[in-house]
Amino acid sequence: MTDRHDYHVNGPLPETPDNDATAGAWPKTTVIGSRRSRVDAYERVSGTAVYPHDVSLPGMLHGAILRCPHAHAKVLSIDTTAAEKMAGVHAVITRATPGTDIPWYERGGTFSSTLFDATCRYAGEEVAAVAAETPLQAADAVRAIEVTYEVLPFVIDDAEALAPGAPAVHDGGNMVGEPRLRERGDLAAGFGEADAVVERTYRTECQIHAPMEPHGSVARWDGNRLTVWDSTQGVFPVQETLARVFALPMSNIRVIGHYMGGGFGAKLETGKYTVMAAIMARMTARPVKIFLPREDCFTATGNRPANTMTIKIGARSDGTLTAIDYHSLGAAGAYAYGADTSSLAVYLYRCPNLRAEDVTVYTNAGKARPMRAPGFPQGAWALEQAMNELAAKVGIDPIAFRLQNLATELQSDPPMPYTSYQLAACLENGAAAFGWQEAAERRVTEGDIRRGVGAAACFWGYAGGPPSTVVVKLFADGSANLNLGASDIGTGTKTWAAMIVAEELGVPVDRIQVENADTATGQYATPSGGSKTVPSDSPAVLAAAAAVKRQLLGFAAEQLEVEPGDLEIRDGEVVSRSDGEKHLAVTAVEMLGRRGLIMGTGYRDPNPEGSVTFPCAAQFCEVEVDTRTGEIRILRFLGAHDSGRVLNRLTFDNQVFGGMAMGIGLGVTEERVLDRRTGRMVNANFHDYKVPTILDVADSHACLAIDVPDEAFNSTGTKGLGEPATIPTAAAIANAVADALGIRVTAAPLTPRAILEAVGSQGKEA
Ligand code: MOS
Repeated sequence: MTDRHDYHVNGPLPETPDNDATAGAWPKTTVIGSRRSRVDAYERVSGTAVYPHDVSLPGMLHGAILRCPHAHAKVLSIDTTAAEKMAGVHAVITRATPGTDIPWYERGGTFSSTLFDATCRYAGEEVAAVAAETPLQAADAVRAIEVTYEVLPFVIDDAEALAPGAPAVHDGGNMVGEPRLRERGDLAAGFGEADAVVERTYRTECQIHAPMEPHGSVARWDGNRLTVWDSTQGVFPVQETLARVFALPMSNIRVIGHYMGGGFGAKLETGKYTVMAAIMARMTARPVKIFLPREDCFTATGNRPANTMTIKIGARSDGTLTAIDYHSLGAAGAYAYGADTSSLAVYLYRCPNLRAEDVTVYTNAGKARPMRAPGFPQGAWALEQAMNELAAKVGIDPIAFRLQNLATELQSDPPMPYTSYQLAACLENGAAAFGWQEAAERRVTEGDIRRGVGAAACFWGYAGGPPSTVVVKLFADGSANLNLGASDIGTGTKTWAAMIVAEELGVPVDRIQVENADTATGQYATPSGGSKTVPSDSPAVLAAAAAVKRQLLGFAAEQLEVEPGDLEIRDGEVVSRSDGEKHLAVTAVEMLGRRGLIMGTGYRDPNPEGSVTFPCAAQFCEVEVDTRTGEIRILRFLGAHDSGRVLNRLTFDNQVFGGMAMGIGLGVTEERVLDRRTGRMVNANFHDYKVPTILDVADSHACLAIDVPDEAFNSTGTKGLGEPATIPTAAAIANAVADALGIRVTAAPLTPRAILEAVGSQGKEA
């Protein structure tokens, strides 16, 4: 099967209860598919929205964390005497503090570290924490802690980590588990049939999530009950972790995440800072707030691993792929993570003979975490560049070459059908909307300013599923309350959820109150990530609204003396389809008034069996390359996306443009730089680490939504979008730059220096 992205962190998924009302797909829609500003737009823009970073409680202390300055070191002793005596300091905790021996970094049921470990395996690892009256007092006290380290040899480079005699990040060597190997057919025979073969090694650098809101929490105890405001993608896993760590019932732990300022995968895991804040809050009987300084967000909250990918790919002269040999090496950093990139190579194109191997190694660097389509943008960087080079070799247009070789079912044994897969439409309609042919004819390959076009395709290997529970309440005045568990990680979750209720019940969106992401008062959802929030939670929202509707129409049918099946809701009225005389305002349904409200519960139904669901996309861009400065100017970008039904066209476009911006970062501007002498990150700030700005994104960008509901997958016909939006972007840019320059720069990011070096070497060859 394909990659497993388990967003429910602790064990198997719960059973899915049956829904008491079946919700079918809408025959036509009035609200769904329209462009809607966010339901909380005013709060977000005006600043009245309370993010965890904004939370300030009476008597609250501020925490700070001491981090190891060495890439690899043993902690021999810690002297906190001076720090404890400093003004305003209320708590100092280290590995010597009772209650801090908490297992951390779990993988496959094994923990490889503790909250404050005796061995620090990267520069930035946690050594101690302080709580004080003010943030500055806490920071001062952290500096007054004296630590004696035994400095150990370290390795930060992925290839060097595998070399004999390399420093061991963990006992037992630097391999993270066994390499993942996927094979089919006969590779040698496949290459034997090939008339054209290309082979090249590609490299992507380590990218940082860099969300706007730093990582952090506020923890408050009331007796034995803990409340945590956390900047997280999922409140329920944080609740589970805290219940385990403090050996308390889940009911004693409340985690609130109403707003959060971005995560991109870095906020799927519970942070050590959350536990440290809670420990010090209990010690001091004061609320404690820990938000990480920006520098720590760069060094210690995860990253997209760097990858080195070698691909050999062959085709017959008619353009049919015959063999793919793919190898990927990635760095997990200091704690286990699978830095696999091969899935696109394995499944995107039909190819009977394949070998794909993913190797992951430990390095003495910040740990990798899932980051917006883990592994896929890197894999696209390699595969989609190789596809272009091969297309040129066999003399076929790169779009036509992709269309000719698209896999239309999952190449598993036995093959499995896709529930829906509009990748051909993404490529064809996208190329037409972009003006691919015209743009290709504008190509400039000589002079100072070159111009070229590039495209890349992808799928995303995850689509979500149960569990998800939603409750909708219709009040007697016709307004509604919607309660779901999912976090809105900036994508507009609350807005499409309200739009579904509006569509189903005819309640205007602005009369729907939305509650979410609170373990005490909210329904259950798995974390928002994996592009799975819409396809996992929207069917539960629809089922809850449908459950309300079924009851409402039942009561109205008695009142109007018709069959419930004859009734529908139209503009705030319950109307008989067969007899136009029979109608009733929703608020005039007597039983609704007598009860005060009608409540409906909805569950996410199971996914269909025997099929696979992937969202997919193709992106196109046109670039100018200045061969004097090495600068790339992105003139136009178009994303053509099949994510099933579009719920909110405005936030759909927003996701695509945001994903492109992040892909531009991977391909052109962003790179974590570690100092080879110290192992420390030297560009851990927004000045030296180049997240794309408004000047770096395309001069104009467009989104083409294929918008074909995936009726076979779930009741709303939806698939995910957030991750496919960033998968092909960097590869499309690389292809456009190669088109303009006539040479291929295989290592990301395509900085001015990299471009100038390539152009310079091209001059020498000529
Ligand atoms: Mo995403 S990497 O699942 O937030």
